[in-house]
Amino acid sequence: MSRAPLAPYPHLRPRRLRQADWIRRLVRESTVSPADLIWSMVVHDGPDAEIPIAAMPGTSRLSVARAAAAAKEARALGIPAIAVFPYIDGEKKDARGSSAADPDGLIARAVKAMKDAAPEVGIMCDVALDPFTDHGHDGLLEGGRILNDPTIERLVEQGLMQARAGCDILAPSDMMDGRVGALRAALEAEGHQDVMIMAYAAKYASAFYGPYREAIGTAVALQGDKKTYQMDPGNTEEALREVAMDIAEGADMVMVKPGMPYLDIVRRVVEAFSMPTFAFQVSGEYAMIMAAAQNGWIDEERAILESLTSFKRAGCAGIISYFAPRAARLLGA
Ligand code: PBG
Repeated sequence: MSRAPLAPYPHLRPRRLRQADWIRRLVRESTVSPADLIWSMVVHDGPDAEIPIAAMPGTSRLSVARAAAAAKEARALGIPAIAVFPYIDGEKKDARGSSAADPDGLIARAVKAMKDAAPEVGIMCDVALDPFTDHGHDGLLEGGRILNDPTIERLVEQGLMQARAGCDILAPSDMMDGRVGALRAALEAEGHQDVMIMAYAAKYASAFYGPYREAIGTAVALQGDKKTYQMDPGNTEEALREVAMDIAEGADMVMVKPGMPYLDIVRRVVEAFSMPTFAFQVSGEYAMIMAAAQNGWIDEERAILESLTSFKRAGCAGIISYFAPRAARLLGA
């Protein structure tokens, strides 16, 4: 960016532009609005109830009926889309994640109910096996190894099921190599050319997913870690290669995950590819803000909005966040 030479102090006093709210608002470079948010939501298959998620105060697992009502709420709040994640009962899990592509399963029913309730709200589904496997991994496991190509076949079945149920955006979060291309080809072959793909392109093996494992019920199950498929937190250049591959394979949008600890990656991806780039403010980020706020250590509302603004400043087109409905209300929606 080219810059004019700066007048020296006292001719230039940066504080002039901070002296009152009206001028601060006028010169603000980045703002967050409800239109930037994707509401991250966990659904369950039980009777009609909200089941609080202990590690994420203020969030609950929603029944299908409540998820449909939440879709209407998203519409009223101006939130464009919902990302839905399933809590799967233990007895429906097995080593192969067999229920991941069940056309009558929880995800299919939740997507249909939400699209019926509020067709104007976009629905995004995770493509990954971890909610459905008894070992908690995103792929098929054999002798302690995650099998890439056999996993892709299962992911394609899962993604097609989601598209048939009415899902608007498939979001592969599994980090297998080649899955975006396989999903795109399968969608085209079955006539789902309008179904979008938001690739979890640069997804790191992160401690910040901790509370999510409680939320979707994999905390007890996960054997080992996900470091052979999710990225090493020390890497940037690799993130650019991952994103480049997913775009080349047909991703319409890309995502960086987690969010706040990886804003440098967001910035580099935005600058390198000029593609709609999203970040996921994950469960652990939510939990950190809420835990500090509940101890009276930070101002909850300001921290929520400041954290979301940081994503926009980094260059995000939008943010997947558990704070979405809360933030939209704070923003006056
Ligand atoms: C699973 C998946 C995870 C999240 C979204 N999809 C967890 C993981 O990869 O272990 C994390 C969401 C969050 O922490 O809020 N494929």
